[in-house]
Amino acid sequence: MIENKVCIVTGASGGIGSRIVEKFLAENYDVVMVDLNSEKIEEAVEKNRFDRNRVIVCAMDITNENAVESGIHDIVSRYGRIDALVNAAGICGSYDQIVEYSFENFKKVYEVNVFGTFLMIQNVIPVMIRTAKGCIVNFGSVSGMRGYSFEVGYGSSKWAVIGMSETVANEYGSEGIRCNCVSPGWVNTCMMEKTIENYRKLGIEDPENWITYGSIRRPAEPEEIANAVYFLCCDQSSYINGANIVVDGGMTIK
Ligand SMILES: NC(=O)c1ccc[n+]([C@@H]2O[C@H](COP(=O)([O-])OP(=O)(O)OC[C@H]3O[C@@H](n4cnc5c(N)ncnc54)[C@H](O)[C@@H]3O)[C@@H](O)[C@H]2O)c1
Repeated sequence: MIENKVCIVTGASGGIGSRIVEKFLAENYDVVMVDLNSEKIEEAVEKNRFDRNRVIVCAMDITNENAVESGIHDIVSRYGRIDALVNAAGICGSYDQIVEYSFENFKKVYEVNVFGTFLMIQNVIPVMIRTAKGCIVNFGSVSGMRGYSFEVGYGSSKWAVIGMSETVANEYGSEGIRCNCVSPGWVNTCMMEKTIENYRKLGIEDPENWITYGSIRRPAEPEEIANAVYFLCCDQSSYINGANIVVDGGMTIK
């Protein structure tokens, strides 16, 4: 077993995922970078100058049951441990009101956000049980807490992820495994750009000013989300289990 702690990050070449990788590397973890294809991951490694001795490129579709099983098996053979799992991979799908919302789109969103997150958790938990410790952080969203228009698939999938995190926390807290959720508001990534573009196509004029940011009045930078994720994986949060940490700049204040 290696000395450094090991963290798996899914969606690792994405806007938020790549900042999470950076944060865990800075905190002396070795990081397994999971994303759809190796070119995308290699590009992120190159662009961010991640230390190649401390990251592994793991091209894997998290919706593919066999791929996830053999991917986790390879990671365990190499490292012998998994200290943290961050499920940042997610898609928003296309946007529409319910009557026009395609069922195919709905299923695809669930496949990645809900089923993919489940498969990762299911395969990692037995490894964490063996070492009697581990932290899992899943990605909800404020869309999984309010019924925002045009995203019935995305919003309800994030509601499911928040619920699933509570179940994991309940079932495995006694085994030394904590599971929490981070729910961002707007985050300055290409997913946010895509959403604004979709709003424009749906006929919303000036969507940049139509969306609400909360009292901080700007979107989060991905680093601000990565800091919250790291907090939930370190000893400073040792008694936080089954929580949904909202990182939204005050967007959902009632
Ligand atoms: N950006 C925002 O405003 C925002 C707000 C709330 C929640 N979130 C959530 O934060 C997480 C990260 O979002 P982001 O903004 O970095 O998005 P992003 O699109 O930049 O990154 C998502 C990454 O997930 C990967 N991915 C998609 N499907 C996959 C699959 N089947 N297998 C493996 N990898 C897959 C993509 O290739 C991509 O690199 C997501 O779960 C998202 O829903 C984002």
